[in-house]
Amino acid sequence: MDAAERIQQLKKEKNAVILAHNYQPAEIQNVADYVGDSFGLSVQASKTEADIIIFCGVDFMAESAKVLNPGKTVVLPEVEARCPMSAMCDSEMLHLVKEKYPEAAVVAYVNTSAAVKAETDVCCTSSNAVKVVGALPNQQILFVPDCNLGRYVQRFHPDKDIIVWPGYCPTHDSITADEINQAKAEHPKAKVLVHPECRPEVIDMADKVASTEGILRFAHESDAKEFIIVTEAEMVYRLSKENPDKRFYSIATAVCPTMKMISLDKVVRSLETLEPKVELSPEIMEKARKPLERMIEIGRDN
Ligand code: 13P
Ligand code: SF4
Repeated sequence: MDAAERIQQLKKEKNAVILAHNYQPAEIQNVADYVGDSFGLSVQASKTEADIIIFCGVDFMAESAKVLNPGKTVVLPEVEARCPMSAMCDSEMLHLVKEKYPEAAVVAYVNTSAAVKAETDVCCTSSNAVKVVGALPNQQILFVPDCNLGRYVQRFHPDKDIIVWPGYCPTHDSITADEINQAKAEHPKAKVLVHPECRPEVIDMADKVASTEGILRFAHESDAKEFIIVTEAEMVYRLSKENPDKRFYSIATAVCPTMKMISLDKVVRSLETLEPKVELSPEIMEKARKPLERMIEIGRDN
């Protein structure tokens, strides 16, 4: 029996569900029960009837699944799969910075630890950051940790004062306007679809800016036949699989090493041992749940 077959067998035996992010390696996406963006994964985690969630993604995603399901076992198959952007904001520092802005609402991009979320008013993902900020009565917003996403949101809310944390995603932030110009020269008819974790000058070159699921939806509904995909390179796997009549070009340098730490063998081991489990203190979970639930309640924008 190969690893993929063993996974199917163990999943049934243990009543487990496998949730995977769109940037996961193709072989992981192929064994998952659900593949999606951070928003979709949070929704799936909040409504699953399985006893065990095997989370194929990174630390903050598995933590959110645990916060939304404190009674369930949540396993992250590789304990070292820590998102570097999430690690750029810690709860003690945020606590201190908040004191400087007593009037501000604190908005946490979901790419944050549960301890950071516990310090905030509401979470958002790239699928609803603009909508979440628009739903807040506060004029001043402290937005953590992604400065690129925070600045993108500011474009839609010129009346608000958005203070951005100096964090960023190394994978998206390293994509340059030159790389997009080169891809456009090679594929002049292609539409440019960009994730909002990219730098402002890259966002300016987009035909569409959206979350990973928003990019999938746009490509599916568009009449165009070719697309330059300006986000993590694995995105073209699902795009090509679901749209065999269209062509997708990735940015080859845009690889997230953390997302590639999950392998089929590690998923097998996690299902066998139910380790490494996500463990969080009840107080942190209680405080982090409210902003996450508020985010889900506000819903998607793209
Ligand atoms: P979305 O899939 O929510 O757009 O997020 C991208 C991301 O960076 C996840 O780590
Ligand atoms: Fe973190 Fe960026 Fe990797 Fe997403 S793509 S997990 S934000 S480093």
